[in-house]
Amino acid sequence: MTQTQDDNKRKTAEAALEYIKGISIIGVGTGSTVNHFINYLADLKSEIEGTVSSSNGTTARLKELGIPVLDLNAVGDIEVYVDGADEVSPQKQLVKGGGGALTREKIIAAASKQFVCIADESKAVDVLGAFPLPIEVIPMARSYVAREMVKLGGQPEWRENFITDNGNQIIDVHNMEIMEPIAMEKTINDIPGVVTVGIFALRPADVILLGSPDGIITR
Ligand code: 5RP
Repeated sequence: MTQTQDDNKRKTAEAALEYIKGISIIGVGTGSTVNHFINYLADLKSEIEGTVSSSNGTTARLKELGIPVLDLNAVGDIEVYVDGADEVSPQKQLVKGGGGALTREKIIAAASKQFVCIADESKAVDVLGAFPLPIEVIPMARSYVAREMVKLGGQPEWRENFITDNGNQIIDVHNMEIMEPIAMEKTINDIPGVVTVGIFALRPADVILLGSPDGIITR
């Protein structure tokens, strides 16, 4: 990651603070952009009741900074969820899961009233799929799901030596040109053994904040 890219990530994280004003419970995603957001959140921790975390990594970071982490089962709907993305389309649909936290991220996105996606401008694409599409799978289904993905036109690669927070495995599928994200999300989710596909189209973001050297681009 270049210095400019990281600076753009930090700027978009700062811009997200506008969306959490007066909010008591905040959903927190995973990744380097969100880590900047967590640093800003630490300054506001006395003003919030707590957070709902999307990964063990994020939970550890939040707790380290003294920010309370709550169980989703105990809080009901979340007002605002802030998370990054690997790809962002003009329709606010996303590819996520580069950090492997896609399942918990999708659960929190679904349970949230507003999803604010923060990313540097390099994540903006016209068509999703250039970034290898992450799929979390039950370990015994890995090869089967991979063969099904070949039928859908992709080239699956096992993310070796990686276990998700849910005890599952990830395959990253190269060369997918996702022309119909909602249909593709449903098709892949229906393959037995798939826990979650990293297409976020059924529940896209509500707001996209893209950090660029010229400032924040809001969609
Ligand atoms: C983790 C994710 C992240 O949001 C995505 O990988 C973006 O990460 P970063 O902010 O480090 O670029 O989906 O599962």
